[in-house]
Amino acid sequence: MPEVLRPTPDSGWTLAHDGYSVTTESAVESRFAFGNGFLGMRAARSVSRGPTWASWLGYIRWASWPRCYVAGLFDMPNTEPAVPALVPVADWSRVRIVLDGATLAAREGAMLHGTRTLDLRRGVLLADWAHRTPAGVTFRGRELRLLSLADRAVGLQILRIALDRDEVEVKLEASFGLAGLGMEPMRLERDLAAWRTEGTAKAVAMAGAARLAHGGAASEPERPFPLRWVWRWRSVAGQAAVFARLVAVARADRPDEDPAPPAAAALARSTALGWRAVLAAHEAAWGERWTMSDVLIEGDDALQRALRFAVYHLTSAANPEDERVSIGARGLTGDAYFGHVFWDTEIYLLPFYTAIWPEAARALLMYRFHTLPGAREKAVRLGYRGALYPWESADTGAETTPDSVLGPNGTPVEILTGKMEHHISADVAYAVWHYWRATGDDDFLLQAGAEILLETARFWVSRAVPEADGRRHIRHVIGPDEYHEDVDDNAFTNVMARWTIARGLEVVALLQARWPERAAALRAALALGDDELAQWRDATARIVDGLDPETGLYEQFAGFHGLDLLDVADYADHALPIDVIIGRERTQGSQVVKQADVVALIALLPQEFPGASAETNFRHYEPRCAHGSSLSASMHALVAARLGQTETALRYMHETASLDLDPDPNSAGGVRIAGLGGLWQAVVRGFGGLTLSGERLEIDPRLPPQWRLLSFRTRWRDRMVAFRITQDGVDARLLAGERMEIGIAGTSVALEVGMAQRVSH
Ligand code: BGC
Repeated sequence: MPEVLRPTPDSGWTLAHDGYSVTTESAVESRFAFGNGFLGMRAARSVSRGPTWASWLGYIRWASWPRCYVAGLFDMPNTEPAVPALVPVADWSRVRIVLDGATLAAREGAMLHGTRTLDLRRGVLLADWAHRTPAGVTFRGRELRLLSLADRAVGLQILRIALDRDEVEVKLEASFGLAGLGMEPMRLERDLAAWRTEGTAKAVAMAGAARLAHGGAASEPERPFPLRWVWRWRSVAGQAAVFARLVAVARADRPDEDPAPPAAAALARSTALGWRAVLAAHEAAWGERWTMSDVLIEGDDALQRALRFAVYHLTSAANPEDERVSIGARGLTGDAYFGHVFWDTEIYLLPFYTAIWPEAARALLMYRFHTLPGAREKAVRLGYRGALYPWESADTGAETTPDSVLGPNGTPVEILTGKMEHHISADVAYAVWHYWRATGDDDFLLQAGAEILLETARFWVSRAVPEADGRRHIRHVIGPDEYHEDVDDNAFTNVMARWTIARGLEVVALLQARWPERAAALRAALALGDDELAQWRDATARIVDGLDPETGLYEQFAGFHGLDLLDVADYADHALPIDVIIGRERTQGSQVVKQADVVALIALLPQEFPGASAETNFRHYEPRCAHGSSLSASMHALVAARLGQTETALRYMHETASLDLDPDPNSAGGVRIAGLGGLWQAVVRGFGGLTLSGERLEIDPRLPPQWRLLSFRTRWRDRMVAFRITQDGVDARLLAGERMEIGIAGTSVALEVGMAQRVSH
């Protein structure tokens, strides 16, 4: 039994945190969070924690922020301004221990040691601690918690406790912590409860079963209240008691749906299997995912660990079985950004899923298809056509960006991104197209992808208005660099818009050639006539892009180069972001850039940077960037890696890696998952040089000299390919699927299952 409570012995697969400090606890809880894309749970202690409730007093600092989330369970809280937010559900792992009448509280007595370990390989959170109570009893505990990857409705907790004394009266009380303060109870039964949201008519049901054995024999609990189990016994020194709890959760999205039956069924399923089989199935599911997704780096242990950590959270965040949800900016690991979905998902995360887990990528893109009506409404509301996706999206596809937030001095600061950050409508199109190119999933293209491409293209044509100079301009926007608001002709936005319109035209031609009936039906449904397509062609030719053909330099937006030049390096070692130090106005009047903007464009559309233009732009914009967003460093790493600027790339990769691995208080609100997806891209697309969107799969590696090996797998059009890259060359192996031609550093190579190919440098 204890072996399941011990971490994988290989330290390359574990992250451990010793001790407890109020200053880092919330960040540790995010970093060590676990989940399966349907459920997410922060790594707060389950035993001896003491209660937590919400308070408006800003100076109360909660020692910890325990939270359980259900993807897609949004409601409108009583905040000002009100925006939908993920509703926390009951903490199903609460355990209270009472020794001789005194409740064990971590803050009393002495914590002799306490280690939490995230076992990445097995996808479990482990804890191991010893606590001396004020009465002098030593309590030892070991715990395992997981949210099953094999059956996403199910969670498991195993807790083993022992005392160093005989004859202590022990009471172990397992309960479900307060369920979302904002939900109404609908049902409360012995083993199941259900709640509904007040405003959105969603519901959640949670069911539980618990057992306890000590001295090897199971003992019956008292059941004083639903979802509460109480055991009492007298301790025998050194004798372990083992507590096991299974839970099952279901969400219902409509008032006529009842989440109780599926939760009860999931509980019955898992109790019939027993916890050992639930654990085994979960570990096997993680094993399968790791076989596909592990990236091996020899020669850089820190990045190896960071990559595993990134893949762990990326795997925990997605759910291929649910097309109605997407991944928020902090996954299901914290409250920041309320669970809202940004361009982070399409631009920073989708490349990972498309290459490694296309089923998850498809579900995430289907979420954008199901939320098209919201995007259409937003376009109409702002006076445009087609689909303008919300900058921040929750469950319905309506814009959920707050209009203002309270600034540091208590005065409201207007938030313009929801009104002006329109590039999201090109980012979604970008992800759709690249998913289709990499997977060849025609079914998706025909049912959903083409419509997204046409509606976003249509939006951009209506957005890029012809003016007296004969060009089309896109005015009043915010680009990825959010330090500069309400700008005209942001190069990133305009070039991505032009690209989207071009893909719209391409998809019309493609559908007409290959699926004429579908082309006709879709064009009829969207009332897309030839006249309109003529306008699209006109738009692709006339959108201003800010490129100076003489120098190859893009101007980030109209007038950017006339702004003050600041030396960003002067502010680099400040703890605060540059816009806070120098103020909003000065930031806006200067050439300081929040995050990769033109640099992001180099990463996304390298074909728009002919000759030395990519290098010219990178050299120009990199020193202007203050990296005021966690999204920034990884894009710089990717571009630097492609440009062969290895040291710069490594520096940015390590910077990204440290975001959530180091004790950075900014992780308190959840892991910055876009940075994690960006890191995977920087390694695999940057140094690995993997490209999936061409006519054939291409790989063109640039390994740093100190790396001995980079190996990873990818899926591509119903095939699975494994690569091992060393300083001498590339080994490629087709693991599954039909014979294929691939490009290795420009050389064409045929691959067949069972036959390895090697191209030497
Ligand atoms: C960044 C955005 C990002 C958002 C959520 C902001 O600080 O500037 O690009 O989408 O955070 O991660």
